[in-house]
Amino acid sequence: MEKKNFYVTTPIYYPSAQLHIGHTLTTTMADTLARYKKLRGYDVYFLTGSDEHGQKIEKAAAEKGMKPIEYTDGIVKTFKKLWSKMHIDYDDFIRTTEKRHYDTVQALFQKIYEQGDIYKGEYEGYYCTSCESFFTQFQLDEGNCPDCGKEVEIVKEESYFFKMSKYADRLLEYIESHPHFIQPESRRNEMMNFIKTGLEDLSVSRTTFDWGIPITMDKGHIIYVWFDALTNYITALDYLDDGPLYEQFWKNNDEIVHLVGKDIIRFHTIIWPIILMAAGIKLPTTVFGHGWLLSSGSKMSKSVGNVVDPLVLIDKYGADSLRYFLLREMPSGSDYYYSEDALVSRINMDLANDYGNLLSRTISMIDKYFKGEIPVAMGDFDKDLLKISQEVIDSYQNHMDKFEMSLALQAVFKLVGKGNKMIEDSAPWSLYKDGNMERLTVVIYQLVEIIRMTTIMLSPVLVETKAKVIAQMGIDEKYFAYDKLSFGMLDKSFKVAKGNPLFPRIEIKVEEREKGKPNKANKEEKQKSNSKANDDNLISIDDFAKCQFKVGRVLEAEKVEGTEKLLKLSVKVGVSETRTVVAGIALSYQPQDLIDKKVIVVYNLKPAKLRGIESHGMLLAAKGENNLRLLTVDGDLEEGAVVS
Ligand code: MSP
Repeated sequence: MEKKNFYVTTPIYYPSAQLHIGHTLTTTMADTLARYKKLRGYDVYFLTGSDEHGQKIEKAAAEKGMKPIEYTDGIVKTFKKLWSKMHIDYDDFIRTTEKRHYDTVQALFQKIYEQGDIYKGEYEGYYCTSCESFFTQFQLDEGNCPDCGKEVEIVKEESYFFKMSKYADRLLEYIESHPHFIQPESRRNEMMNFIKTGLEDLSVSRTTFDWGIPITMDKGHIIYVWFDALTNYITALDYLDDGPLYEQFWKNNDEIVHLVGKDIIRFHTIIWPIILMAAGIKLPTTVFGHGWLLSSGSKMSKSVGNVVDPLVLIDKYGADSLRYFLLREMPSGSDYYYSEDALVSRINMDLANDYGNLLSRTISMIDKYFKGEIPVAMGDFDKDLLKISQEVIDSYQNHMDKFEMSLALQAVFKLVGKGNKMIEDSAPWSLYKDGNMERLTVVIYQLVEIIRMTTIMLSPVLVETKAKVIAQMGIDEKYFAYDKLSFGMLDKSFKVAKGNPLFPRIEIKVEEREKGKPNKANKEEKQKSNSKANDDNLISIDDFAKCQFKVGRVLEAEKVEGTEKLLKLSVKVGVSETRTVVAGIALSYQPQDLIDKKVIVVYNLKPAKLRGIESHGMLLAAKGENNLRLLTVDGDLEEGAVVS
């Protein structure tokens, strides 16, 4: 059978600052998908890289008294070091400063110019230096950049324009007829609405700085950074020479996936496809826009100064733990509040207590009851285990194929949990005491199979751990191949070798926990001032100030299957922030009645899981005797407005 192909890319990162765990999230997602597809027998190509041109980089280099290329050379080294520590196994790392990329961008620009879709004119518009983006007045957010909120400047200059408007209808049609092109669904709606407001021709050259790729026929003009950056995805496959990689991974490939953060989805689903359409190149299969990692209430970013350094976390907790945490915690498509506490409790709960413990308990029992030889059972297996195993495998595959890694991992841990529960329920120590070796053989074999199957499914995420499990189980590696992913495939005995715990429990030192908390003197004072309030069952203003409320607008609403009361809502709570909220209001509201309704969201509530759906916030509602009504705002107020 002919092998299937899979091409996955990350955004190419700006070397204007060190990478943080937000960037690490995207790259880990891509690496995990690449490994998963390889495991399933695909031919995979995985690309990442650096986006090195533009005014911001030119300025940053000048401030350090360096040439731009010297400056980016240094930062790119740190990117590569981070990816190597995270075990990111990319096939190619593209730098936009490479000759192959200059040649490709210039040729593509020239081709589109010659066919008449690029023309020369004069540009006057709003430019955000920070995002290196131009906006129309209509797109601005209260006069500021709609992406980063910073001030924009009016720029007037000679420029080349790309006829985006000409392709707007074709693009809309494409998005409508390719439901998988923009994922997740909420982003797809957002983009379609954006295109429907009309596309203007795009200014695609600058004369105000030099650090970029010049237009071949008009060297005073530098090609617009996004035209330059987006082209990387085909430069790396050797589009220019129609090379074998381009043939295999673009032309003859049904799975071309760009993973991006939600702030750059517009560039990838509007500008990029129109460039490709104009050049007669087929479009990627999917652009998946994930949410942001937030810290101290806003997007983690260098300019806000709230970044978390992945290298520190790798040194402290290990790359596998960080990989697992990022993928398990990040809900598909929405934002996530980062905290180190959440990281530690996730490692302790899932990796140490559940998975690691299951392995060490099973190996100890094999040592004790079977002299270290794994017993192989042939039948009499627990029916519900057979059923759950297959359900978990199906659910894992289904979610991985839809890039829903958190849900895929949750499925796997259902099986891990089943293993630990089986130990409690079947009490192997009693079976041994009673001499019931037949049943004991079945129980231990079932546990080994659970470990084997879950290790296969976790291997694209826990890349160092698989080898450790194999070493302790002593099982031949071939039993960890994907075609062995079903219950009962282990048909031979192997000798186990007990090793160190896979994930030792992390005990956070008291001093560390206390960091950032009020000191003792403060605490006492606080307690005093609170005590009166406690007495009267009142709360202090400090207590109330801990709650953050924001105005949201409901974009989508649907019933949660199998429940009477719950609705799953997609609520817009800021210019570019949409959250999933599960609300117990289905008896009082039909989903369609909620669309566009303004609601009040409890914004800083810890995420909670309801019927397997992670809910990020809560809606305020008032409950009458027979009725429940949502709180809303009196008059028009934009999403994200703070309620106080
Ligand atoms: N150079 C452009 C991408 C060009 S792709 C043709 C760029 N670079 S970036 O370094 O600023 O950001 C790269 C990616 O990191 C974006 O997808 C962005 O969403 C992501 N993230 C940056 N901060 C993030 C978080 N706090 N959380 C999650 N992802 C975040 O944009």
